[in-house]
Amino acid sequence: MNFNNLLVEAENNIAVVTVNRPEKLNALNSETINELDKAFSELNEDENVFVIILTGSGEKAFVAGADISELNKLDEKTAKIFSEKGQKVFSKIETIEKPVIAAVNGYALGGGCEIALACNIRLASDNAVFGQPEVNLGIIPGYGGTQRLTRLINSGRSAEYILTGDMIKAEEALKIGLVNKVYLQSELLAKAKEMAQKICTKGQFAVRMAKKAINIVDEVSDREGQNYEASVFALCCITEDFKEGTSAFLEKRKPQFKINN
Ligand code: COA
Repeated sequence: MNFNNLLVEAENNIAVVTVNRPEKLNALNSETINELDKAFSELNEDENVFVIILTGSGEKAFVAGADISELNKLDEKTAKIFSEKGQKVFSKIETIEKPVIAAVNGYALGGGCEIALACNIRLASDNAVFGQPEVNLGIIPGYGGTQRLTRLINSGRSAEYILTGDMIKAEEALKIGLVNKVYLQSELLAKAKEMAQKICTKGQFAVRMAKKAINIVDEVSDREGQNYEASVFALCCITEDFKEGTSAFLEKRKPQFKINN
């Protein structure tokens, strides 16, 4: 895959998508948003890719937000289109079949924090800094941040960060549950790949069904969610992976899962 603002590499069933505009701290311009849309669609279709890691180029930034030089030109009509387009792409990242791990290697501000929030798992480097500083620009988060941040870290904390624009350092992000783990920057990508590799060794149908069941939590009642869980649990139980996984346990050996069921 060739892109102007992204690097996409895949090896051992793991794809790494790197936002690559380091001179602009990997800020998301429209072209980058369109490229992310295309890259994630293509990776979702690629049967050799099981897990996707999203990171930023360089040592300073993951993504420093939407590109402010583009924001500056928006009017009411184009702003709505801009917001909805970003929301659509970030929702794609959140809901595609394959798990997505954010390896947050520096500033994750505005749209950068929002795209990390759309990933299923967030790992951060010790120099990572999160934040929704949009109020400093006279706007609010427009790529799903008001919703996802609030659901993840609770409404009081989310209101504090969104209303003050205060930055959240890696250690604080860990404490409030915004990230799963913090690593030395030099180790971050290797640790993300290690986690991705672990997921790759599992039954992939089960991994994808688990992601689906987790994702619907915010959309349905607890009863509907549990009904959905029972349905996909049952679907898992008609796969070869299920037979292999349970038999391997009983036979005291490692399971050999199939790529696709
Ligand atoms: N959009 C467009 N360009 C951006 C950008 C953004 N969100 N964030 C950084 N850049 C650009 C800067 O304009 C600068 O470009 P230049 O060298 O052509 O002038 C370059 O990236 C380096 O940024 P700079 O501000 O010089 O780095 P810094 O180390 O002094 O500060 C930040 C780093 C992240 C604190 C600062 O860049 C910043 O506040 N960025 C905006 C964050 C933001 O508000 N994001 C939300 C947008 S909705």
